[in-house]
Amino acid sequence: MAYLQPDKPGKVYLPAIRQAKEKGEKLVCLTSYDYPTARIVDEAGVDMILVGDSIGNVIHGYGNTIPVQLEEIEKATIAVKRAAERAMVISDMPYGTFHVNEDETVRNALRLMKYGGAEAVKLEGGRNRVKLVRRLVDEEIPVVAHIGLTPQSVYKMGGYRVQGKTAIEAQRLIDDAKLLEEAGAFAIVLELVPREIASQITKELKISTIGIGAGSACDIQVLVLHDLVGMTFGRQPRFVRPYANVREVMTQAIQNWTADVKSGNYPSDEESYGLPEEARKALGK
Ligand code: KIV
Repeated sequence: MAYLQPDKPGKVYLPAIRQAKEKGEKLVCLTSYDYPTARIVDEAGVDMILVGDSIGNVIHGYGNTIPVQLEEIEKATIAVKRAAERAMVISDMPYGTFHVNEDETVRNALRLMKYGGAEAVKLEGGRNRVKLVRRLVDEEIPVVAHIGLTPQSVYKMGGYRVQGKTAIEAQRLIDDAKLLEEAGAFAIVLELVPREIASQITKELKISTIGIGAGSACDIQVLVLHDLVGMTFGRQPRFVRPYANVREVMTQAIQNWTADVKSGNYPSDEESYGLPEEARKALGK
C-alpha cells in the first residue's frame, strides 16, 4: 500500500532471527537508551537493540535495576526507535511492571509497543513466568525470556553470581528454558551461566539463545554498550572485553577544551561570528 513507509532493507524481525538460528549464523545485540548511541549501534550493523533496565545502573547510577520505572524505559524506547532503522528494538520490562497480575503486565507491555515503539519485550524469570509469557504471546507481543542471573532478583539472590553451577541448578535452567520455549518466547537471554549449560540449551532449543557471560555457543551475544566501549566505572566482569576506552577519549577531549578556554585558544575567530560590515560601520566599530 502506497501509504506504508517501507522498512530499511534487511530490517530485523522475528523470521530473520529464526533463519539465522537455522543457518547457524551468529547475531549480535547491544543495549542503547538514547538516540545517538542507538543510531551508532544501528549503523554499525548490530541486529538487535535492547533498551535494557541496565539503564538504571549505566545512565541513572541507581546501583541496581530495581528502581527503574516503565516511563524511563518507554522514553528511552521512543528515542531508540527513532534511530534504529534496521535493528530489532526490544524493551525490558522493569521490576514491578509484570509482577502484579497478567492484565497489568499486558497493559504495560502494550504501552512499550504502542507508545514506545518496541518490537518485542523482555522479562526476567523461569518457570514462574511461563503463564505470563503465554498470555503476552497470545496478545501478539513477541517475548524474550531471561534466565540465569536475573538482576531484578538481586536481593533474593544476594548478589551477582554465576548461576547453574550444581547439577540440580543446571538441570533447572535447562528445564526452565524448555518451558519458556513451549510458552512461546522467541529467544531467551542466558546471563552468567556455565558455557556447557548454555551450549546444551542452545542445542536443545529451536529458539535463539542470547548469551551474556554464557560462552560462545549461544546463537546471539549481547553486551551493555557502555561496557563494550569503556564508559563504565569500577571492576568489570570477566566477559567484558574492552574494545575501546571512550571514557579516556572523552576525558582527554574535555581536558583539552578546558585548557584551550583557559589559555584563550578557544574559541578562535573562525569558531565565532563577526558583525557584518554595515552594522559595524553604523555602530562606529
Ligand atoms: O538490562 C540489560 O541490559 C540486560 C542485558 C544485560 C541482557 O538485561
